[in-house]
Amino acid sequence: MIRVEDLHMHFGGIRAVDGVSFAICSGTITGLIGPNGAGKSTLFNVIAGHHQPTSGRVFLGEEEITGLPPHELFHRGLLRTFQIAHEFPTLTVRENLMMVPPDQPGESLWSAWFHPGRVRAREAEVGTRAEEVMDFLEIGHLADEPAGNLSGGQKKLLELGRTMMVDARIVFLDEVGAGVNRTLLRTIGDAIRRLNKERGYTFCMIEHDMDFIGDLCDPVIVMAEGRILTEGPPDTVMADEAVIEAYLGKGGGQRPPRPVHRAPA
Ligand SMILES: Nc1ncnc2c1ncn2[C@@H]1O[C@H](COP(=O)(O)OP(=O)(O)O)[C@@H](O)[C@H]1O
Ligand SMILES: [Mg+2]
Repeated sequence: MIRVEDLHMHFGGIRAVDGVSFAICSGTITGLIGPNGAGKSTLFNVIAGHHQPTSGRVFLGEEEITGLPPHELFHRGLLRTFQIAHEFPTLTVRENLMMVPPDQPGESLWSAWFHPGRVRAREAEVGTRAEEVMDFLEIGHLADEPAGNLSGGQKKLLELGRTMMVDARIVFLDEVGAGVNRTLLRTIGDAIRRLNKERGYTFCMIEHDMDFIGDLCDPVIVMAEGRILTEGPPDTVMADEAVIEAYLGKGGGQRPPRPVHRAPA
């Protein structure tokens, strides 16, 4: 579904992404891990149209999408969430969801004036969808809560909910589990799995929680110092010496990932 060819993103002398090639297959939940500063978020930013790459190409299916702006990608079903949630704090959860679908007729003064019926019908449709999304994520009780009052984990759920207001094909999640408590993490994980199975979403997710990655993702891609180190099933990747080395080395002495799903002793 996504193919990246020899992608570079340099900031002055910093080679944040330094010659990356990989593919994300349709229907997968692909994990992207690596020590801090590896270039993971920058890679997402380039794919999702927030940065023009220094060089290289990105394809969505057969179509080249290199450098297309985020709203163009949105129309093609490519969405992303941010490491820091981007909610509108003074709007309610429902309103935050209802803002997402593009081209709502009510946005043009012309149609509000001359086609009030059409505007109302469309608003009702978007409202119904928002209710469905809140049901799916089990946040219906928060519908009228200003988004600014939500916990960090609930904001992450709302971010995921925003991707469900349109018919997404591929969603890039940047640390959707960071700072989220265990219970909410399970809810987020279940939602991702169901969206993948029931709605055919393909996911690519950056995550630090290796249990979370091990549970959800296959394959897992490992980045270090702007490059791809290795790729494979989670257990294989997390047991890889080079991966452990990358976490312990220049990445700043981070705890390396450990294999999950070990057979009971
Ligand atoms: N907008 C930017 N300008 C300059 N340097 C940046 C910018 N964005 C990221 N970097 C640098 O690129 C490298 C990779 O960062 P990032 O992609 O955020 O890593 P990760 O998400 O893997 O932790 C870091 O050295 C970071 O400081
Ligand atoms: Mg990051």
